[in-house]
Amino acid sequence: MWKGKAKATELTEADFDDLDPVITYRHLLSHNLGVKDPLRVVALCDSDAFYAACEQVRLKVDPAIPLVVRQWDSLIAVNYPARKFGISRMDKADDALKKCPELKVVHVATYKEGEKEPGYWDKPDTKTHKVSLDHYRRESVKIYNMFKEGLPGAEIEKASIDEAFVDFTRPVREKLMERYPYLSQPPTDAPDGLDTPLPPPPPISWDGLGTVIPTTPEPTDDNNEHSSTCEDDTLATWHDVALSMAAEMMGKVRVDIHSKLGYTTSAGIGRNKFLAKLTASYRKPNSQSILRNAAIPNYLKPMPFQKIRFLGGKLGKALAEEYDVKTVGDLLTISLEEMQRKFGENSIWVYEILRGIDRSDVKEKSAITKSMLASKNLPKPIVKTSEGHHWIRVLAAELALRLNEAREASPTLWPRTIVLHIRQGYQTSRSKQAAFPFVRNVTVDIIAAAGDKLWKELVGARDGAPGSMPFKVSSVQLSFTGIESMNAAQQSIEGFFKNRGSSDAEGSNLKRKREDDTSHSMDSDQAISELPTASFTCDRCRKRIHLPEALRDISLDEDIRAEALAALRTEHSDFHLAQELSKAPDKSSGGAKFRPNTPTRKKNKQKETSGITKFFSRQ
Ligand code: CTP
Ligand code: CA
Ligand code: CA
Repeated sequence: MWKGKAKATELTEADFDDLDPVITYRHLLSHNLGVKDPLRVVALCDSDAFYAACEQVRLKVDPAIPLVVRQWDSLIAVNYPARKFGISRMDKADDALKKCPELKVVHVATYKEGEKEPGYWDKPDTKTHKVSLDHYRRESVKIYNMFKEGLPGAEIEKASIDEAFVDFTRPVREKLMERYPYLSQPPTDAPDGLDTPLPPPPPISWDGLGTVIPTTPEPTDDNNEHSSTCEDDTLATWHDVALSMAAEMMGKVRVDIHSKLGYTTSAGIGRNKFLAKLTASYRKPNSQSILRNAAIPNYLKPMPFQKIRFLGGKLGKALAEEYDVKTVGDLLTISLEEMQRKFGENSIWVYEILRGIDRSDVKEKSAITKSMLASKNLPKPIVKTSEGHHWIRVLAAELALRLNEAREASPTLWPRTIVLHIRQGYQTSRSKQAAFPFVRNVTVDIIAAAGDKLWKELVGARDGAPGSMPFKVSSVQLSFTGIESMNAAQQSIEGFFKNRGSSDAEGSNLKRKREDDTSHSMDSDQAISELPTASFTCDRCRKRIHLPEALRDISLDEDIRAEALAALRTEHSDFHLAQELSKAPDKSSGGAKFRPNTPTRKKNKQKETSGITKFFSRQ
């Protein structure tokens, strides 16, 4: 087993070799072990070829027909039948058609000026239209709601447009007690009382529960499908029982999603978020895979470590160069001490992740989106100020639709601020914001008028002014921020304090990751500023806040990055809010929730990153 030398940390050796921990009645009967729970079970469920599936369902096309979704000339989603023809997201639409002439090609919906709703137009053109992901967002919410309804008691975190994490620990615990009532108390003659280890678990039948990843590596020259039953000689554990129960529950919801909504999904089930995500892609599409603790080492060892999220960037490259290695296994011989000496104290998270350790929590996000952003990268830059209006109207239509749709669920939703953000050339990006009035009926006209006003303030007389730089705008973004229910300001502050109760281990984990991400960005400020949406400057503290490295990938969908930045902004302003509140005299009940020994600044910084971490799972 792996052994770790826990230098300068609160970790003990047990943290690194606990694949088969002794589980006692006390563990089982405690309800708040959080991420330290030895029976923790987490799943990640990802929809198969999601955008393509959305179009296939919308158009009622036979799922066996090869179908792709195109955006301008490129493909953004390829269904599994089309993948059989060797078509991938890298292909151009025309090349894909050459590979498969009967391919069904659907262009993603777009907004065009003068239309309130996005549509599937005949010949959408990037010079005049803007992509709309609204339909996919709506379908995504439907799937998420099926998880919520089908898994009462489970914590569910939407991780991206087509993924959700599910923490099964609680519902599994209930099922364990129900199915094995003898676990509810130690035998009366047990000498150690509650600290008595549980009796051996019953045999497990994995039939119909998914693919169980083998504990020993499959021979590479053998292409036979391994049976999904687990004939391993590794003794089953209570954690395996827990996994099998989660697999049963997850399987039911996946079947339900398929029969009611038409989407197939792939799920991964394991002891934490990191492993659940990795396991979800073990076998696709339409399947679920289970990673037993006993299978973790051999599952991770052959994996190219640069494929692991967070390790794809500069840090991964530095590790590869330093040690001339490729796989996780190659890196396991490096001691924690050495890693920290060469890559800084914070590299402990690398040490941990290589060993399948991830203490981050599955956290449900607030139902209310705090910001909405519509953005357009202009293939043909705007060179006259008068050309701004067209794009502002197009972007306003998207914001109007999204806000009004969100208001169907919460009618008093109100964006406090409207922000216009433009990029000029590659270097400069500028923004201007204004308070947005509370209006019952928010129309495209109202938003466009507010946007036009900001546009005038931002670019005003730029194109005529003597001696001014040539005017050239290459991207325009219009967003609503600070979206809240009319009377809910109080609620959201309370929610903030509630979330602070998370365990320290998890908090420091997030912090480690965050610091690692930022520490590598210091010398690359120049490069970062070339991206339209990689950072922003806070109006209050004047600090420049950057997206984590993983999100600066230029190939990333512009909407994804824009949303991440919007989330980062909101979180940063929450951080200021919390800071102010913590300075206020401690008289309200909300203030009392602050633990007196909690260092505010540091802690708030951790909170600041928690929402942004969800975007890593898109990688
Ligand atoms: N997507 C995108 N740009 C990216 C990554 C993803 O537009 N850089 C979109 C894809 O079009 C996709 C959806 O987000 O349909 C979900 O992405 P992902 O889960 O990575 O791929 P899928 O198409 O769902 O395919 P898979 O079955 O492999 O999950
Ligand atoms: Ca997917
Ligand atoms: Ca995905």
